[in-house]
Amino acid sequence: MVSRVIPVNLFDLVIFGATGDLAKRKILPGLFHRFAVGQMPAKAGIIAVARTAMSADSFRDIVRESLMEFAPKFAQDKDLLARFLGQIDYVRVDATGDQGWDELAAALRPDTVRSFYLSVAPSLFGTIAAQLTAHNIATKDSRIVVEKPFGHDLASAQALNADLRRSFDEHQIYRIDHYLGKETVQNLMALRFANALWEPLWNATHIDHVQITVAEDLGVDGRGEYYDQSGAMRDMMQNHLMQLLCLTAMEPPSRFQPSAVRDEKLKVIEALNPVPQTDIVRGQYRGRDGAGGYLDHVGNSKSRTESYIAMKVTIGNWRWAGTPFYLRTGKKLRARTSEIAVVFRDPPHMIFPHVPERRGNAMIIRLQPDEGITLRNTIKEPGPGGFRLAEVNLDMTFADIVEEHSEPQDAYERLIMDVIRGDQTLFMRGDEVEAAWAWADPIINEWQSARSTPVPYDQGSSGPDDALMLLHRDGRRWREIG
Ligand code: BG6
Repeated sequence: MVSRVIPVNLFDLVIFGATGDLAKRKILPGLFHRFAVGQMPAKAGIIAVARTAMSADSFRDIVRESLMEFAPKFAQDKDLLARFLGQIDYVRVDATGDQGWDELAAALRPDTVRSFYLSVAPSLFGTIAAQLTAHNIATKDSRIVVEKPFGHDLASAQALNADLRRSFDEHQIYRIDHYLGKETVQNLMALRFANALWEPLWNATHIDHVQITVAEDLGVDGRGEYYDQSGAMRDMMQNHLMQLLCLTAMEPPSRFQPSAVRDEKLKVIEALNPVPQTDIVRGQYRGRDGAGGYLDHVGNSKSRTESYIAMKVTIGNWRWAGTPFYLRTGKKLRARTSEIAVVFRDPPHMIFPHVPERRGNAMIIRLQPDEGITLRNTIKEPGPGGFRLAEVNLDMTFADIVEEHSEPQDAYERLIMDVIRGDQTLFMRGDEVEAAWAWADPIINEWQSARSTPVPYDQGSSGPDDALMLLHRDGRRWREIG
């Protein structure tokens, strides 16, 4: 069911956890950006909610400071800033108790569509959802937005879904995976389904393999406690990389609508074959030259949690049988690079005698940095002389294409505006999340029962050597990171 798409000027957005990091860094700056470019109307209300006692003016001072830091370009405009701050209210609410709910109800206007953004610990999702209905604050048109981690295994994800569904229908629930808000990720759908060029080639007959890389140069300092309970598998693979895999591998949906798109993504997850441990490499970055390693950063010298994971994933369906997807993600790697590389098979018969070492045709979809798409082609090396082949990139960099004055949109901005518009296409459905956990659980359980230990890798490297072997043994190699 598609929720009612409303004119954007009639909404109240309530942010629970409004004094937290995500609200300061992403949610409020994102809303401010949209306000600055005229996408948020003058009557939109933002109601910040947290446990701390403070006046709306004190909260606005905090917002002013964070906008100076995280949205400096627009925050220079004092008049614009003042108008935006004027739309923000603050209400103190005790999520687990009775205090503040009546005040929150009073702060909301009648006849608006209400969205509740829960930027709080998942353990509070169910409680807040129940309070919102118990106090008649949520209506049948309301939306509720939640963030990962959405469970740490199948059972906990099912419990969270059940908690939310006690108070809200699935068509009201917006589960954010911010990777789906990234420009290139959406472009992947346009590229595949708005061109007749690629679809005939988009299968195991023509594609040799796919590499999905999400490499980060940062470590886990500052988030050690959370991260050590999760590791790269739960923190990145089960959600962000899984979503990238789905968009790359899914069948064309019949229409660009939430249920059609999400049905196709779900089918991909359900078609994944179990991954044997021999197709998985787990790594943990070690200290070097006085720089602390993972164990120092999480403050747990015995931790067996992985900060890197690479795996070979196969999909059991007609389109993809015989084409492996190699996925890898890790912290403290050489560079921050995220991309999807679709590597095509060689021509069936090569007529040219002098073929240099070839990497072959590939489409590289760059998520970050430098968003864009590169197409690797083989051509005759221009110029006189013999007939030598060379590989050359056709490059499409999105920054060169966007209109001169348009501002790049952060993933959160895009997603928050979709909540307001009532468009669930770029949000995860409950059954998708559960299916992804059903796939991940046996893998994680096996590590736990075998007490498996990740292999060490150097900070600033491309990850453990064992990960290179994962492709070498199949006669393939990873693309360079960075
Ligand atoms: C988050 C993970 O979901 O995504 C972090 O919890 C990770 O560990 C982050 O650093 C990466 O997001 P991005 O947008 O910087 O690639």
